[in-house]
Amino acid sequence: MTRNMPIRNCWSPAFCRFEYLEKDEEMIELVDVSKSFTLHNQGSAVIPVMTGASLRVSRGECVALTGASGAGKSTLMRVIYGNYLASAGTVTVGGLNVTLAEPRQILALRRETLGYVSQFLRVVPRVPTLEVVAEPLLALGHDRQMALDRAAGLLARLNIPQRLWALSPTTFSGGEQQRVNIARGFAHDYPALLLDEPTASLDARNRETVLELIEEAKCRGAAIVGIFHDSEARQRVSDRDIDVSQFAPGLAQ
Ligand SMILES: Nc1ncnc2c1ncn2[C@@H]1O[C@H](COP(=O)(O)OP(=O)(O)OP(=O)(O)O)[C@@H](O)[C@H]1O
Ligand SMILES: [Mg+2]
Repeated sequence: MTRNMPIRNCWSPAFCRFEYLEKDEEMIELVDVSKSFTLHNQGSAVIPVMTGASLRVSRGECVALTGASGAGKSTLMRVIYGNYLASAGTVTVGGLNVTLAEPRQILALRRETLGYVSQFLRVVPRVPTLEVVAEPLLALGHDRQMALDRAAGLLARLNIPQRLWALSPTTFSGGEQQRVNIARGFAHDYPALLLDEPTASLDARNRETVLELIEEAKCRGAAIVGIFHDSEARQRVSDRDIDVSQFAPGLAQ
């Protein structure tokens, strides 16, 4: 991709791969979502984190979640991913109502539609890096060689030295692990992506590569929700910023 390409408007229906969605359907949609935690081991104390959270993310669009530490950015992301069940309201991703979905539907959603680059890499020990990155494609039934080639291409692009590809990433540096995590998150062309601080511990060159991967994902029509503490990165890839502090329970009517 050339650096000067007009990123924001490059998505066009002609490139839309998500035929199963209605033309105007949002890829990610939250309507009036509330989330509170009940701490069963602490006298069943109830911690309300957000209320009335509504958000729509279209294909080819990147929405950045902002707000102070503890405001609920990661919680909102986990509600979209189905890790946390919303206390009220509806969450829909790729046409699936996540709040009502069965576990097998959530697993299929995560395999096919919704990618998540968490802040820290979590892997099964002793699995080689190349396999870790190729795994999402293999889980979808893609040809093994194609999956490994794609994984190799991403690892090379993210400057992970080839001598490390046969090793488990568990002993890698923080920045190396983050890049492996990103390579894995971008292996399959997910229609929707959640990115939790994807550039947090990267040097300028690798940060640039990650921003290009995000821009390319937008261009092919991915709907992205991201948390970017780096404001320059956020300004470059985000089409809209949503301050989650507006969903704080104290502010609700
Ligand atoms: N599993 C949980 N159980 C209880 N409380 C939780 C849980 N997860 C989050 N919280 C609470 O929800 C609030 C929001 O947390 P969250 O991690 O979403 O904040 P954040 O905006 O991502 O902050 P940061 O910028 O520091 O990552 C915090 O007060 C936190 O303690
Ligand atoms: Mg967080």
